[in-house]
Amino acid sequence: MPVKIAPSILSADFGNLQRDFEMINNSKADWFHVDVMDGEFVPNISFGFPVMKTLKKHANKTLDVHLMIVQPDRYIKEFAAAGADILTVHYEACTHLHRSIQAIKAEGMKAGVALNPHTPVSLLKDIVQDLDLVCIMSVNPGFGGQKFIHNTYAKVKQLRTMAEDVNPELLIEIDGGVTLDNCAQLHEAGANVLVAGSTVFNSDNPTQTIEKLHSNCASGTIMV
Ligand code: DX5
Ligand code: ZN
Repeated sequence: MPVKIAPSILSADFGNLQRDFEMINNSKADWFHVDVMDGEFVPNISFGFPVMKTLKKHANKTLDVHLMIVQPDRYIKEFAAAGADILTVHYEACTHLHRSIQAIKAEGMKAGVALNPHTPVSLLKDIVQDLDLVCIMSVNPGFGGQKFIHNTYAKVKQLRTMAEDVNPELLIEIDGGVTLDNCAQLHEAGANVLVAGSTVFNSDNPTQTIEKLHSNCASGTIMV
């Protein structure tokens, strides 16, 4: 499956959100990645429904919403109403993960689970067949611009093997520290969605950087 590139709007210019949303609309990006943080599950607070509503108004691509919040079940209906296409909850934030996944699907969204760097993929063994997406965090969640954690490659390979028979269509997303240098290797390991925040928005030409992420993955080479 060709890789999907999902720019994270956490790294966008909040004084020029509409401009940055249009840039993503007109680029080769596949999805918008939307990081929602509550200041409790993670040490940072990002944004909530007012920004989601603006995004929904302007975006013409899939909205991939990553909830870094405690008790995410409280907000599943609201995120569906706000236009989320994919809703990802954290394994570490859900006591009844199976129920949360069913509740997300019942609202017509695709369901994802995110794993913190310390959480082994083997814990998903009995639920992997029910998931549309697994987001492997390659940094500790909470902030953009952090350094990629190398153990991620091993986790991607392990998850791809685990899903091979029971869920071959599983989307494996990598979130945190994705660059032009590591994207091809992540894709080769079995990832098919790459989130990129600072790599895209801190570059001189974000549109071109999105294109390069795609072409580096397609060719398997590194073109910085
Ligand atoms: C981190 C967020 C990421 C973040 C990625 O908690 O989930 O989506 O925006 O940013 P970069 O690509 O800069 O690491
Ligand atoms: Zn994220």
